Amino acid sequence: MANHAYNELMEQEKEFSSSYRWQHWIRAFSIVALVATGFYIAVPFIAPEPNPEPTNFLQAYIRGWHEIIGWILIAVFFFKTYLFLFTREHRGELLSLKDLLDTKVWAQQIKYYLFITKHPKLNGIYNPIQFVAYIGFYVMLIGIILTGLVLYVHTTHVGLGAVLYEPMRSLEVIMGGLANVREIHHILMWGIMIFVVAHIYMAVFNAVYGKEGAMDAVFSGMKWKHQDH
Ligand code: HEM
Repeated sequence: MANHAYNELMEQEKEFSSSYRWQHWIRAFSIVALVATGFYIAVPFIAPEPNPEPTNFLQAYIRGWHEIIGWILIAVFFFKTYLFLFTREHRGELLSLKDLLDTKVWAQQIKYYLFITKHPKLNGIYNPIQFVAYIGFYVMLIGIILTGLVLYVHTTHVGLGAVLYEPMRSLEVIMGGLANVREIHHILMWGIMIFVVAHIYMAVFNAVYGKEGAMDAVFSGMKWKHQDH
């Protein structure tokens, strides 16, 4: 009974399309796999039992997987950028730009997080603080992809490795050499890990405090809205 009464005050609303949800989870799993394989590449903490056959290429094997998953991340990056910029179904994301430029929304959002006011009414689907965090995440993602590609062209000299060789070598020079590129790639990983932890914390916070099924949306696509919102 209590549930029924609760639902009468709520409206179900579509938040995320299935293409959005798929890209979210593919990206999430590839980041986890890239962090795991990346830590191994940085410090190969296990080595196979020595044997006289030339078969002990664990480092190269794990790097191979890192690169394959890296390409999946790159593909999803392009797909997500396309959804964001060009699809009507996802224009709620672009509309968040309006909220980003609205100082009143900023002020109310900060007060909401300080438990002073209600959540502001938004034009888009992301609040301004969230949107700034996502822009930061995108900048780090572009950085880790570009540095990853500079490292990649030194391991693979055919196909895209050959096509990208010259431009990536120029980028390598701009970044001060391969050792720096590797360092930047590594530091960006830590930036992304900090973002992921904060992102999960905020998702849980909003689900618990907002009571609108905020986390459901990235699984089912649907969210509940209080009718006065
Ligand atoms: C979330 C994304 C990523 C994370 C967390 C990540 C993490 C790492 C880490 C920690 C290293 C070791 C750096 C070091 O030696 O200290 C590494 C190396 C490398 N990464 Fe990534 N990476 C990511 C994306 C990519 C992408 C998109 C590519 C491009 C295909 C890529 C290609 C490489 C290559 C080629 C190496 C060098 C392997 C070597 O030194 O032999 N990574 N990555």
